Amino acid sequence: MVVPPGIERLPRFRLLDGPSPLTRLDRFSAALDGEAEVWIKREDLLPLAFGGNKLRNLEFLVGAALADGADTLITSGRRWSNHCRLTAAAGARAGLAVHLVLTGPPKPSGQEGANHVLDELLGATVHVTSTDDRAERAATVDRIATELREAGRRPFVIDVGGGGPIGAAGQVLAGLEVADQLAAAGVGAATVVVPTATGGTQAGLLTGLALASPPTCAVLGMAVASPAAELGPAIDGLLDGLVGLAGVRPPSEAIAIDDDQIGEGYGRPSAAADEATRLLARTEGLLVDPIYTAKALAGLIARVRDGRLGGSIVFWHAGGTPGLFERL
Ligand SMILES: Cc1ncc(COP(=O)(O)O)c(C=O)c1O
Repeated sequence: MVVPPGIERLPRFRLLDGPSPLTRLDRFSAALDGEAEVWIKREDLLPLAFGGNKLRNLEFLVGAALADGADTLITSGRRWSNHCRLTAAAGARAGLAVHLVLTGPPKPSGQEGANHVLDELLGATVHVTSTDDRAERAATVDRIATELREAGRRPFVIDVGGGGPIGAAGQVLAGLEVADQLAAAGVGAATVVVPTATGGTQAGLLTGLALASPPTCAVLGMAVASPAAELGPAIDGLLDGLVGLAGVRPPSEAIAIDDDQIGEGYGRPSAAADEATRLLARTEGLLVDPIYTAKALAGLIARVRDGRLGGSIVFWHAGGTPGLFERL
């Protein structure tokens, strides 16, 4: 893999041991009765605290924090946030204090969700806002940063989801990595199906795969939080933000989003996601989570079954497995 010079120059704190596996799913593919050969990219096996794709963003975000002389990380998200859990883990690894601001309202003591429990186990200080209002969450982040500065600390604030071009630079490398793995497996063209929330993973993969071509890969984002009309412009903006780092700008027409699987909303279970979870578990012994990866898998299954998707497909298992134990 040739890392683009703009990314090579970024400060980086190593959290990964090497590439995540890319594996073919023969029994799952056969169960779909379509013309598809499905592969899985095991971002859920990245090394820290139950893994997940956001460790890639955190290599560059923690790198930026350390370069800035920070001694504390602050980030925020929903109460089931995988990014928050992985920030707690990355902070522990880097010797930085971590403050997390989770969307409320708070659960009664002892009934916190799986990720919240893990956040505290990893040593993070967790603040839960009184409502589910995003503005309250942002104001709480500002207040905590101010209080820490007044106390002589050096906080570094990471955006929700580790978004923005610096975080997405990690996903550019993921795109380059899977391109190498596909080429080694003799796959010349594939569609990558990825769960998408802030769009950072999708933008980074699009950019990395554009740099690597061949293999020729399309990226299909399965929206889990926001409709395509909102997500498309966000991803377009991220592609602009990545040009200076990666030296390539995929065309806006390459942004493909399917928002059919959002169902009742972000973090709300769906029947299709449940069915997808059982099918993968019972054909391959692999687990996905109800908030992100099961919805992406449900979209993949629907498209293979109705013939919209075929050939080689890479299911991007972005992690999030503790979500199986969240009370949604
Ligand atoms: C497991 C999992 N999949 C997908 C996503 C969405 O990634 P992005 O915010 O880059 O769109 C997240 C975000 O936290 C995640 O935790």
